[in-house]
Amino acid sequence: MLKLKDTQSKNAFRYGYLLNKMYPYIKQVLWRSVLLFLLAVPLGLLDGVVAFSLRPYMDFVVNGNEFQTFELWGHTFRLQAFFIKLIPVAIVLFALIQGVLKYVCNYLSDWTGNKMSNSIKIDLFKKLTSMDTKFYDVNSSGIVLNRFLTDPDTASKNLINTLKSFILAMFEFFALVFVLLFNSWKLALIGIGVMGIAITPVIFIKKKIKSVSNATMVVGGDMATNFNETFAGNKIITAYNLQENQNHKFENQIHQQFDLTMSLTKRVGWMSPIMYFVCSIGIAIVMNYGNSLILSGEMSAGSFASFVTSLLLLYKPTKSLGLTLTNLQTTFVSIARVFELFDLMPEIKNTPNAKKLKSIDTGIKFEHVWFEYEEGQPVLKDFNLSVAKNETIALVGNSGGGKSTVVNLIPRFYDVTKGSVKINDIDIRDIDIVNLRNNISFVFQDNYLFTGTIKENILMGKPDASETELAEAVRLSHLDEFLDTLPEGIDTVVGERGASLSGGQRQRVAIARALIKNAPIVILDEATSALDNESEAIVQKALDNLMKNKTVFVIAHRLSTIHNANRIAVLNEGELVELGTHEELIQKQDGRYRYLYEMQFAGEKTAGGRQ
Ligand SMILES: Nc1ncnc2c1ncn2[C@@H]1O[C@H](COP(=O)(O)OP(=O)(O)O)[C@@H](O)[C@H]1O
Ligand SMILES: [Mg+2]
Repeated sequence: MLKLKDTQSKNAFRYGYLLNKMYPYIKQVLWRSVLLFLLAVPLGLLDGVVAFSLRPYMDFVVNGNEFQTFELWGHTFRLQAFFIKLIPVAIVLFALIQGVLKYVCNYLSDWTGNKMSNSIKIDLFKKLTSMDTKFYDVNSSGIVLNRFLTDPDTASKNLINTLKSFILAMFEFFALVFVLLFNSWKLALIGIGVMGIAITPVIFIKKKIKSVSNATMVVGGDMATNFNETFAGNKIITAYNLQENQNHKFENQIHQQFDLTMSLTKRVGWMSPIMYFVCSIGIAIVMNYGNSLILSGEMSAGSFASFVTSLLLLYKPTKSLGLTLTNLQTTFVSIARVFELFDLMPEIKNTPNAKKLKSIDTGIKFEHVWFEYEEGQPVLKDFNLSVAKNETIALVGNSGGGKSTVVNLIPRFYDVTKGSVKINDIDIRDIDIVNLRNNISFVFQDNYLFTGTIKENILMGKPDASETELAEAVRLSHLDEFLDTLPEGIDTVVGERGASLSGGQRQRVAIARALIKNAPIVILDEATSALDNESEAIVQKALDNLMKNKTVFVIAHRLSTIHNANRIAVLNEGELVELGTHEELIQKQDGRYRYLYEMQFAGEKTAGGRQ
């Protein structure tokens, strides 16, 4: 499973490959982008027009003779009068055209960039929700947030903006070069040669850009994780006075980010001054040579003014072409990272021709199951267990012994490493995954409630449930008394993660969710462990209703709560060591269950006589 942090964005320099991948998203905005790029052409040419008009302006308006005429492409103009009238109008028109073009271009680039980014985000979110438990085990929330939200933005908006700037700068560049050549090709060659030298260093920094961009993404992810943890763990932070720790962590991350930014600035920042310096040498040469051309009468003053203006103006598009190249590189690093995400594949997925379960007939079997989270560290070792239909089996054993792991295999949160889990003698890997999970209700120790009302949270178990089914679930989960005390009843909004409810109340909402789902297999993983006696008693009653006529796996910390299981499976360090009824197991001298039971019983006695 790819760790999002370990990205190499190794495809970052395969531009054709990446554009091909981007094509479905580009296609959606293709016509608008083409229009945008077409509009960038005249916008880019406008600077050239200014420089171009300087020559006739200088020669014929400032220095000119009233009756001098000027031939351009077969037309004859009476220049001074013509220009004097034209110039004020031209300035206003020029600004107007430029303004309108700029607005339309900006509008189009925002529209296309955001549309593209949105489509990518939607598809990436689908990818995220399709990932399996292991993916969420190895990747922190911050890195997920950062990579799934930030990169699509950079990939699309930057791509559009950079291409727009590129076209703009390109045409600005060409227009100005045209003006240069028009005025003096000799001088132009010098000017362009110098600009060419000035822009070369840009090409050599793409590797640095990639590594800095990847590192920045990782630090950004760590920062986001830090924010999430500060939020989710705020009680622990307050209770243990860990504020300073969190602050330090954050300060370090900020400094790390600063160092990264500066390391790029160090590499990239000198380029602009160097370019400027090289250009100034070019201008110096041109000035010097230009002087002699004017003196020898080979070039008019207007022509020279127009030339120098173009050369000075040329600096901007040259620099922006350089920047565009670096930006484009950043963009392609992001695109590469985005498509890395699309290449993620959940390891747990449907096999072709997956079967569907109609009911649980022959029960659930674990056959020689081996399982490991980390390679070479088996957590379950040759685990065998058969559970009959409608049997309640309790799993007990030392903490970390593998009880949760056993039940996590049933809905395929993880797949076995060796052996198999079967329902109705069908390997669960051959059962349709949605169908399999529809057959299972899970109640954990800490159940997640989503932002929304209690009703919405319950209905997640069965979105199309009728009012009667809802009322029944509420009654059987012993929620009704509690709901009656709330002014808004079942429509009360629970805070994020259900923060406004007590542990027992949250647990009963979770049980109602499971009840309304009415799945034939019920898994209870320490469902009452976090509760006080009183809540536990009422939650236990709710659970009893949930367990009726179901095949049940129950993991409970307190052995007293598993008395009425049909059989008890005792796990120790990932191995099944004992299996039988309470009466059978308690008889065994030196038995593991007996030992656990006595430990617990003694503990509970001294702790104040819980039965
Ligand atoms: N997501 C995980 N990634 C890696 N190791 C895990 C993960 N979940 C549990 N483990 C390890 O597997 C072992 C069994 O854990 P678990 O099944 O949760 O035990 P139990 O529920 O019996 O307390 C423990 O050593 C635990 O550290
Ligand atoms: Mg557990």
